[in-house]
Amino acid sequence: MMEWNMFQIFLLVLLCVTVSVIGQCSVSTQCSVCDPGGRAVCGSICPKDVALPANIVYLRVDNGTCDAWARQGTLRPEYFGTYNDLKVLNLTQAHVDRFQPVAMFTSMPNLIELYLSHNLIRSFSPTAWTGLSSLEHLDLSHNTIVGLVAQSFSKLINLKQLDLSNNKITMQIPDTAFAGLVQLKTLSNNPISNIGSNVFQPLVNVETIQMNNLTLTNISNGLLSNLKSLRTVDISDNSISSVANDFLTGTTLDLLDLSNNVLTSIPSDAFKNSATPPRILNLAYNKITQISSTDLKGITANRLDLSGNPITTVAGDAFDGASISYIDLSNTGLTSLPNSTEAWLKGSTSTINVHNSNWQCDCNTVWLVELLISHSNIVSPTCGANSQYPGQLLSSAAIQIRDVCKSASGENNLDLTLTDCITDTA
Ligand SMILES: *[C@@H]1O[C@H](CO)[C@@H](O)[C@H](O)[C@H]1NC(C)=O
Ligand SMILES: *[C@@H]1O[C@H](CO)[C@@H](O)[C@H](O)[C@H]1NC(C)=O
Ligand SMILES: *[C@@H]1O[C@H](CO)[C@@H](O)[C@H](O)[C@H]1NC(C)=O
Ligand SMILES: *[C@@H]1O[C@H](CO)[C@@H](O)[C@H](O)[C@H]1NC(C)=O
Ligand SMILES: *[C@@H]1O[C@H](CO)[C@@H](O)[C@H](O)[C@H]1NC(C)=O
Repeated sequence: MMEWNMFQIFLLVLLCVTVSVIGQCSVSTQCSVCDPGGRAVCGSICPKDVALPANIVYLRVDNGTCDAWARQGTLRPEYFGTYNDLKVLNLTQAHVDRFQPVAMFTSMPNLIELYLSHNLIRSFSPTAWTGLSSLEHLDLSHNTIVGLVAQSFSKLINLKQLDLSNNKITMQIPDTAFAGLVQLKTLSNNPISNIGSNVFQPLVNVETIQMNNLTLTNISNGLLSNLKSLRTVDISDNSISSVANDFLTGTTLDLLDLSNNVLTSIPSDAFKNSATPPRILNLAYNKITQISSTDLKGITANRLDLSGNPITTVAGDAFDGASISYIDLSNTGLTSLPNSTEAWLKGSTSTINVHNSNWQCDCNTVWLVELLISHSNIVSPTCGANSQYPGQLLSSAAIQIRDVCKSASGENNLDLTLTDCITDTA
């Protein structure tokens, strides 16, 4: 037993010596250290207290236990000042509270990615980022940032991705908060209820803006106007009841997600005022009650999702002049479509999804029954509980309905309900 322990210890010592000679890394149980020029991962110790190779390119500190952090939550430049080759500094959940002094990263001209999510950062000065001229990716999500100041990120001339999600930004964001971010491609931001018209204007190359799951109530004038590189905008899960007619002017979006808001009508003017309307328009789960004669007129899109809205009325000419490949009207309040939409449905290659569960499968629906039999571009509704075919797909009941109503119409009873039809033909 005794000898075995001695042997183990001998092996361990040999291993440590071998590693530190070959890798020229100090071996610590708190830091797993890589080869020179490679990675170091410190689980529970401050990097300044271990001799890491000076030329490491990746440094991760999972749970900062540097004395100063634990006591004051303050990040000091000397903790990393010797690692000038760093490309990635990962301080996710590392107890970072603030930076001291403000110019924290001046020795890292090669840093490309900086992860500071899940910390306690409340604010920072624009000079905090001095020297990070190569930085492309900054993750500040899951902190307690309360506001942004003018020029907050203007030192980050190469930044492409900025994540500010899950902060507590309650102050009005100055128009120049994002000034200088001319390379930015993706913004996951968290400005609370009110975003001024000009806040996004400096982001001349931005491709993606995420403003989902905030407390926005409206979209202000010209908010995204003339952002020509913008392709994807997510404004879902807010409380938006109105959008400015010109908020998309000059844009060519692939996707605009406005689902789960409280819009009561289709904001078609905003779509029509864009350079080209968003190819995918998601308006699902709003409070839209109708599709008017003009809502869709002149709109060209791949997909329009209106599912989950309490739509009960569709104008007879609602689809005329629209060029939309897929219209989703499932799970709405619809129980029928006006028969004057027949011509458009017949002539169009678009798919229309009217999968609703309360369809009135009566003789007035025969025209749709005929279309369902001959055309595959309509997703069938389900007959309502009060209809003659409760729970059945209209497409399944089609032949029966057609036969029953045809013989009824032979007796000139076109407008009778199906129940009447059956009684009459019995
Ligand atoms: C950063 O570190 C966290 C844990 O602290 C880890 O989950 C995450 O994957 C790391 N990210 C990168 C890009 O290294
Ligand atoms: C982080 O470090 C503190 C202080 O050393 C410790 O009490 C805590 O358990 C650690 N948390 C995790 C998730 O490792
Ligand atoms: C837009 O929302 C902001 C913040 O909630 C509010 O102050 C402003 O009055 C709203 N504007 C309009 C036109 O509703
Ligand atoms: C939305 O935000 C709330 C807090 O504001 C959060 O609890 C929830 O998980 C978020 N939902 C999504 C889908 O991100
Ligand atoms: C179309 O529907 C209207 C009202 O629902 C009805 O008066 C008219 O007879 C129908 N036309 C045809 C051709 O079925």
